[in-house]
Amino acid sequence: MNQKNAIVTGAYGAIGQAIAEGIAAQRFRVTLAGRDRASLEKTQNLLRKRSFNPDIFIEVVDLSSRQEISDFSKRWGNPLSLLVNNAATAPRQRTENGEGVEMQWAVNVLGYVRMIRCFEPFMEDNTGARIVNVASYWAGGLDMRDPEFKTRRYDNDVAYRQAKQANRMLSAAFAGRLQSRGITVNSCHPGDVNSKLSNSFGFGGSESPAQGAATPLYLALTEEVKGITGKYFEHLRQERCQFSLDPQAVEELYQLCNAYGL
Ligand SMILES: NC(=O)c1ccc[n+]([C@@H]2O[C@H](COP(=O)([O-])OP(=O)(O)OC[C@H]3O[C@@H](n4cnc5c(N)ncnc54)[C@H](OP(=O)(O)O)[C@@H]3O)[C@@H](O)[C@H]2O)c1
Repeated sequence: MNQKNAIVTGAYGAIGQAIAEGIAAQRFRVTLAGRDRASLEKTQNLLRKRSFNPDIFIEVVDLSSRQEISDFSKRWGNPLSLLVNNAATAPRQRTENGEGVEMQWAVNVLGYVRMIRCFEPFMEDNTGARIVNVASYWAGGLDMRDPEFKTRRYDNDVAYRQAKQANRMLSAAFAGRLQSRGITVNSCHPGDVNSKLSNSFGFGGSESPAQGAATPLYLALTEEVKGITGKYFEHLRQERCQFSLDPQAVEELYQLCNAYGL
């Protein structure tokens, strides 16, 4: 039997682990991508036990790094059926990665873009391959003239909201580009879950990780959404995304991200 391959980023985080578990339960070969080897191995062991699926693999990759994402894709030699971009960070102070790019822009936005651009070549045409971008209802305030807070005062919540807006707009941008190959790209709000990320805003969360994973898994696995692309979902339902209505702005953002390079 030809098993399908899936990659989940941020896979030892609260929601990421629950997403990976749901995909593992469907007998995919699941690659957990994250930056901390020990946490990846712990999640790998846990998911192998819980899902009775031995085909759980790990990849150590700092998703803020252009080079590390590129190296990851060069190590990858398989067809890919499913990519779930889920990793996110929201440091309280403005921080830059090793390449001098503001950290939320690097991980939460460019990380998603580079994962798609580096891995879509492994997705086979017209086989129902899917890309799911975990975004949020908590989104807005994107400033394309100052995406890295070089002139604006940095606030982790403001930077986060603009990143999640960008995730939603870029899903529409990639959906248009990949449609002719039968690859779908959708984004969603997962749920309000207690996590390192939500704690960095001073919040907890009222939903369990499994509840938070339900909509990403709906987009990743169900027949119901087969062929749907470029859309935004909350609570297992398609919702209107006000950010993706302006094709010119969507294209401008896509070009802005591309200018950072692969
Ligand atoms: N929790 C909520 O209520 C909520 C609500 C709306 C949307 N979301 C979205 O859901 C997704 C998952 O969030 P979560 O709440 O599950 O957060 P989380 O538990 O903090 O998980 C985030 C994951 O991303 C990883 N990550 C961060 N920076 C990275 C980097 N440079 N390289 C590789 N991995 C990195 C983290 O690893 P480290 O631990 O090593 O940093 C962690 O595994 C995010 O996209 C978030 O925007 C969450």
